[in-house]
Amino acid sequence: MSSSNLLLYITDDNLRREAIDTLRRSDNPVSYDEHDSDWASLLERIGKTKPEVLLLGLSGLSVELSAAIRQIRYHVPRIRVIALNSSADPQTILSAMRAGTNEFVHSPLADHLPQALERILSTPDPDLVQVHRGKIVGFLSAKGGCGATTLACHVATELQKLTRKNVLLADLDLTCGLVGFLMKTPSSYSILDAVKNLTRLDESLWRALIVEHRPNLAVIPAPASYTRWDHPDENQLRQVLQFMRTQHDWVVLDLGRSLNSIATAVLDELDQLFLVSTLEVVALHGLKSIVHGLFDQGEKLQLVLNRTPKMMDISTQELENILGRSLYAALPNDYMGLYQSYSSGNLLDSNNRLAQQIGLLAGKIAGLSPVKSKKKFALFG
Ligand SMILES: Nc1ncnc2c1ncn2[C@@H]1O[C@H](COP(=O)(O)OP(=O)(O)OP(=O)(O)O)[C@@H](O)[C@H]1O
Ligand SMILES: [Mg+2]
Repeated sequence: MSSSNLLLYITDDNLRREAIDTLRRSDNPVSYDEHDSDWASLLERIGKTKPEVLLLGLSGLSVELSAAIRQIRYHVPRIRVIALNSSADPQTILSAMRAGTNEFVHSPLADHLPQALERILSTPDPDLVQVHRGKIVGFLSAKGGCGATTLACHVATELQKLTRKNVLLADLDLTCGLVGFLMKTPSSYSILDAVKNLTRLDESLWRALIVEHRPNLAVIPAPASYTRWDHPDENQLRQVLQFMRTQHDWVVLDLGRSLNSIATAVLDELDQLFLVSTLEVVALHGLKSIVHGLFDQGEKLQLVLNRTPKMMDISTQELENILGRSLYAALPNDYMGLYQSYSSGNLLDSNNRLAQQIGLLAGKIAGLSPVKSKKKFALFG
């Protein structure tokens, strides 16, 4: 095994010295790399170098163990983790097993570590640890009021209806998000609570933070109040998104308007970014500059034209030429329909034409082919 395949992350000095000593004196010495910086940089390194085995010291770990293992396996699903501890404390052994470590060894390491390594290395093709990876799509308004929130709410709802999968709608418009209001899911928790509790974020804490709008459609609204001091650490925010993927099949984000700092921070985590614009000159100007700024995003970036009038002053082809990109969808204008639905505290009725077009958009996002129906809206397979 080459050194890049065995990585040590042991913050306790005594345990680290003992582990290194054991590895050096072993009958079959193995080479290793050591990581001596913080947790976030460890994850970054693991993601880049993809080691086969990690020797993880349990004492002094800054992250709760099950969250730590989950984050490690998010980057390298096949990695095998040997948990090291100075004592054979039963509670620690139990939590190491529950967290999904492959081996647990304690001092004196010379008596246990070489055998544990041997066992792990003699299993050449470990079972792939399946890490659930849902898809994350974001809606961003080219300028304020183009319809990002309307689309995020309706697309999330339609995605759930069409795919019957587990969908999360998350409001990342931290300053003035309206998702909780439109979905009628007021909550005292927001994505900021997940960020603050990242080190102990697990399935049960997550369930307590999200609100069930209906079965298999959960919502996490924007914070009720937000000041610039609340701005989340961007690396931690990305880790929360990575966690969301493990909990939901689809995650739909309302990213607010323009290329704001949150949208920019989460860009790498998105599978698809839908830039929503109207035909208004100011919106098209915003759209063009965002498209220019995100030129390197390729197919990840898609354009949605909203509130498209029946008669356009400019053809779709001309518009696409100006923008240098094709339109993913063009949705009709129905101000009254939305006004009436929102006034009565609902999303659009499924008979509504705009709702049907948003349904088609959701089907396209989910990769489902539309089924033609003479009546109303065609459901997808
Ligand atoms: N297709 C549409 N037809 C008519 N009105 C629409 C359409 N889509 C959205 N609207 C209306 O436009 C207004 C702005 O929509 P929305 O709040 O979804 O936009 P936004 O991009 O999220 O805005 P903000 O920048 O304030 O977050 C709302 O009154 C909404 O009802
Ligand atoms: Mg909005």
